[in-house]
Amino acid sequence: MSELRANATPPAEDRSAPLVDAFARHVTYLRLSVTDRCDLRCTYCMPEKMQFLPRSEVLSLDELHHLALGFIDRGIRRIRLTGGEPLVRRDMMDLVRALGRRLGDGLDELTLTTNGTQLAEHAAALADAGVKRVNVSLDTLDSALFARLTRRDRLKRVLEGIAAARDAGLKVKLNTVALKGLNEVELPDLIGWAHGEGHEITLIEVMPLGEVDGDRMDHYLPLSAVRDRLEARWTLRPSTYRTGGPARYFDIAETGGRLGLITPLTQNFCEGCNRIRVTTTGQLYPCLGGGEQVDLRAALRSDDPEDGLNSALNHAMRIKPARHAFRIDAHGQTPAQPRHMSMTGG
Ligand code: GTP
Ligand code: 5AD
Ligand code: SF4
Repeated sequence: MSELRANATPPAEDRSAPLVDAFARHVTYLRLSVTDRCDLRCTYCMPEKMQFLPRSEVLSLDELHHLALGFIDRGIRRIRLTGGEPLVRRDMMDLVRALGRRLGDGLDELTLTTNGTQLAEHAAALADAGVKRVNVSLDTLDSALFARLTRRDRLKRVLEGIAAARDAGLKVKLNTVALKGLNEVELPDLIGWAHGEGHEITLIEVMPLGEVDGDRMDHYLPLSAVRDRLEARWTLRPSTYRTGGPARYFDIAETGGRLGLITPLTQNFCEGCNRIRVTTTGQLYPCLGGGEQVDLRAALRSDDPEDGLNSALNHAMRIKPARHAFRIDAHGQTPAQPRHMSMTGG
């Protein structure tokens, strides 16, 4: 993969200019976290006694909406709502409906990433608001392992949620974190099940984000090894399909389904990065795996929010790094980013 080269002439300070970073990458995709809270406690994501933010720190629904509209004005065409678990925020569906009204009017796609526990209640309303696809986390079909991994016994609810999404006409992509010694042996069956149900599925390497109980790298499973094993059973054909995201896709001839692999540690994918993320407190992180940060909440609450927001976005484009800083060092250690995935929503 060729190295990214910084552009000598960064984009001019402009209120309406598209978001282009110093490496000439066009940023058109926003991941907006609506809450850091979650009703599960996945062991690789957070400690059992996770400290969530006080509600006073969190942006109001109006602020989130305002922010999203400001991004659309700057050329963001796809918004993915994330968490924590986005559906635990009580006014979340109001935001979905409000943003849904911009579909076809500046916005091409509105989606969400969810753990599925409350999807059964909300699937039909999501579809009504214009959502076409949802990404649902599912690491196992074994209820005992699910309870151990998430520290909650909710597999049945999640499967009901996935079924409800399909019944509502939503396309479902499953996200599965590959975990050595945990769901490792089950991965082919999980992929076979997903494809049989008509869902896409993506495997993810566990990323060093925030402190958890124990060492999550004890269960780190490089997807290169998983791919070798899958290829012993199936024919994997590299696909040209791209979402602008980190996944690289394969079509599996025997199942007729699509498999994504997200490999931050074994294979870098940052060259084509199209995305930024904003936390529920209005902090913009130009990269999931970097320390760069821009405070949009201060901009939003300033005397001239529009100007503040646009300057902040221009600044974010100047500091978006060429690639993430996840790595395995010479001692096999993976220094963690201090933020949990539940804060940035991935
Ligand atoms: P689409 O591309 O819109 O289909 O979604 P996605 O697969 O990027 O999003 P999803 O929310 O389903 O995230 C799947 C996994 O990808 C999660 O573990 C995210 O943390 C991870 N991910 C998403 N964006 C990035 C990124 O820019 N860098 C890294 N390292 N991981 C990311
Ligand atoms: N590394 C990799 N994936 C993670 N997820 C949460 N924490 C991590 C981590 N540390 C996954 C969730 C969900 C997706 C949004 O991110 O399981 O599928
Ligand atoms: Fe919740 Fe997702 Fe973290 Fe699991 S991985 S605890 S579902 S935010």
